[in-house]
Amino acid sequence: MFGGAKSLVGVDIGATSIKVCHLKDKKGGFGLMKFGFQPLEPQTIVDRHVMNASAVVDALHAAFRMAKIKQKEIALSVSGQSVISRKITVPIMTTAELDEQIQWEAENHIPFDIKDVYVDYEILRKRPEAGQMDLLLVAAKREEIDDYVSIARQAKLKPLVVDIDAFTIQNVFEYNRGLPPDDTVAIINVGASQASINIISRGASAFTRDISNGGNYLTEQIIKQVGVPYEQAEDMKCTVGTPGADRSQLPPKLTQVIEQVCDTIAGEIQRSLDFFLATSGEERIGRVYLTGGTANLSQLAQAIERRSRVTTEVIQPLERVSLDGAIDQPLLQQRAAQITVALGLAMRKTKEVRA
Ligand SMILES: Nc1ncnc2c1ncn2[C@@H]1O[C@H](COP(=O)(O)OP(=O)(O)OP(=O)(O)O)[C@@H](O)[C@H]1O
Ligand SMILES: [Mg+2]
Repeated sequence: MFGGAKSLVGVDIGATSIKVCHLKDKKGGFGLMKFGFQPLEPQTIVDRHVMNASAVVDALHAAFRMAKIKQKEIALSVSGQSVISRKITVPIMTTAELDEQIQWEAENHIPFDIKDVYVDYEILRKRPEAGQMDLLLVAAKREEIDDYVSIARQAKLKPLVVDIDAFTIQNVFEYNRGLPPDDTVAIINVGASQASINIISRGASAFTRDISNGGNYLTEQIIKQVGVPYEQAEDMKCTVGTPGADRSQLPPKLTQVIEQVCDTIAGEIQRSLDFFLATSGEERIGRVYLTGGTANLSQLAQAIERRSRVTTEVIQPLERVSLDGAIDQPLLQQRAAQITVALGLAMRKTKEVRA
């Protein structure tokens, strides 16, 4: 998989919808030219596995048509249990030596059969005084990547880059705010099927973990505890998560369920933050930044803040991106929290995962 200098269309195939973004490089930053959004039926993708490939192919066509995108070259991402990243330390060596060594390092650090994964790395820091360097080692299951690539090809697209969700989000954050050089922060994307956590320390990713709970879990609990069917549960939830929406018809039990489930998700997130603090030697996390569709629920940020005692802020992915194309603005506004991955992918130009 080789990337050129050409800009790519960012394509995020999420559990509940496909998001596509195309950016223009301008002096002083990025401009959003095209944006497309296409919902997927429940069960199309389960636990990140594509159950119904033709439905995804159709949705890709629909998203490109809606966004009026002609370009075929795209960047994709994978996430979830099939992706692992670890920060490791190795003796200082040349890139050629490292390319050889990396498979062996991966065998030691990645709990997958090495034959089944693509491995990549990024040099985070060289420490000549210690004769060592810190690497970010990334492994992703071949099967998962090959599946997504093959589906994109069936949709007549050309995937040139495959990234992972956590890093695309980091990309957007870095572009908007810059990575804090001294502080440790967590950026968390809470989608439908999962919450992906990326802890940034000293200006680089130090830990990633995906938790398999997100907005779907909230909807399931509303179905169960409020006693309404799926569509209605989803609608009610999104009404609570839409500023200014009319909430007068909502059952009183709803907020209680949402608060309780947000607290459960926040508890799981907290366990990951605690694990990082216990194993990394870092003392504190300075701030939590939230994105993803489920971040629309203010109850989630509140629950994370309550559990972790860390200020939690919902980030606006388009903070420093100008809107330049013929874009459906109300749709973009409604989906803003969900576009971070597609936006980060659209910022990529080079290859990310080596085959
Ligand atoms: N306004 C809203 N209020 C509450 N929840 C919302 C709102 N908008 C979207 N959601 C929820 O966000 C989730 C979708 O977010 P997102 O698009 O980030 O996830 P995804 O990419 O489809 O899933 P995943 O990342 O798990 O693969 C759904 O569970 C949806 O119900
Ligand atoms: Mg997602």
